Amino acid sequence: LEPAGSGRYEIVQREVTAEILPGVRTPLWTYGGTFPGPTIESRRGRPVTVTHRNELPVPTVVHLHGGRTPAASDGYPTDLVLPRGWAAPATPHGSGHGSGHGSGHGSGHGMHDPRAVVTEVTRDYTFPLDQRPTLLWYHDHRMDFTAPAIWRGLAGLHLVRDDAEEALGLPAGPRELPLMIADRAFAADGALAYPALDPALRERPGVREPYLAGALGDVILVNGAPWPVHEVDAARYRLRVLNASNARHYELEAVGDDGRRLDLVQVGADQGLLAAPVTHRLLPIAPAERYDLIVDFSGVPVGGRVRLLNRLGSGRTRDVMAFRVARKAADGSRVPATLSTDLPDWRRSDAVRVRDFAFRTGHLHSGRGWLIGGLPFDPARTDVTARLGDVEVWRLIADVHHPVHLHLVGFRVLSRSGRPPLPHDAGLKDTVSLRPGEAVEIITRFDGYRGRYLFHCHNAEHEDMGMMANLEIT
Ligand code: C2O
Ligand code: CU
Ligand code: CU
Repeated sequence: LEPAGSGRYEIVQREVTAEILPGVRTPLWTYGGTFPGPTIESRRGRPVTVTHRNELPVPTVVHLHGGRTPAASDGYPTDLVLPRGWAAPATPHGSGHGSGHGSGHGSGHGMHDPRAVVTEVTRDYTFPLDQRPTLLWYHDHRMDFTAPAIWRGLAGLHLVRDDAEEALGLPAGPRELPLMIADRAFAADGALAYPALDPALRERPGVREPYLAGALGDVILVNGAPWPVHEVDAARYRLRVLNASNARHYELEAVGDDGRRLDLVQVGADQGLLAAPVTHRLLPIAPAERYDLIVDFSGVPVGGRVRLLNRLGSGRTRDVMAFRVARKAADGSRVPATLSTDLPDWRRSDAVRVRDFAFRTGHLHSGRGWLIGGLPFDPARTDVTARLGDVEVWRLIADVHHPVHLHLVGFRVLSRSGRPPLPHDAGLKDTVSLRPGEAVEIITRFDGYRGRYLFHCHNAEHEDMGMMANLEIT
């Protein structure tokens, strides 16, 4: 993707059809005509403005997941980008934003009124990207409709880089592979099928009803292709893995033809480099999490294959993708023993407050929902007010699996049900996978910007069914 000017991009959200499964066409909602959308690469601290134009039939909202972004560009679920021809819904102030094409780009409002519903046909999202380099992703965030919008294709990658990271000598260029993993279900004619809406799908193994588990598909896509096979050199690769699935959890392993597991050497988490590498044989990855992994194919014979498998899957969902080692090759890459020295080391004693949040299902007058602290999301209610600069400990309590995500900040995992964090909890994260029945403590410092942000379960169906709350930073 070429910048339109310095740090400026334009993305048109539009419907296309693409051949994902051989021989059939799949209608998609896309950023810029492809799924995933265009990968944006930025330098730390160099602001980027992305103008999104909505040519889809429904309102949309863009959120840069993991971005340290002022509230006005963070994609609050009611800050809509309207499709052409839609009238702006009445707002509490009756203001008439967005009545015509190009009327007032989003960032033009001096103050972000927490109650305003902003609606326009195009919107400028401005990202300062003053943050640790990492793999971010952008996706739809419209209130109540995020899950089906992501399912239809509204997701893309945004890499942030800096000189210090590049100087480490990790595998780069063609040996750095961003991998967006997402499951989908397809109808016979190639159309994406959202399990809730298609009773026939419930009969298929691997496809499940969205209510409890969230939407699960039986086709695993990596960068939009089903079970791809990627040719590699017999050398180290850097895999920047994102689980962009609505609801599916994976437990990844890399297995050679001889059945031996290759090491997954983790060098980074959601919010950038670890202090030192952590080696996994099996790596759980929940929706919205990212892992920055080094895999060394140099011991694999030419012509050999390494399969990336999902231990939690069965049948078709056990396979994710494969690497075919095509040739011997020189490898000048390194994996230094010290990766970064700038990780925050907040202590429990730094915290001015400890808060508890229960992530549980519950009954509402409208039916069952997914709730935080017994309440479904309400844009008009402030759930948490935190002071800019304060360090807090949050205790997140789960009934079933819930990947919990905070906007704006990175956090560290302090404990899991009173025990030390797991090896894959290392580093700075923005999404943590709560396992069934667990109470996970995280610690963070609310810095960056004042304004209204969110925290929520990143099982996209749970999020749409209420498991989201407002975080006001003052
Ligand atoms: Cu990945 Cu609130 O989102
Ligand atoms: Cu986010
Ligand atoms: Cu959940």
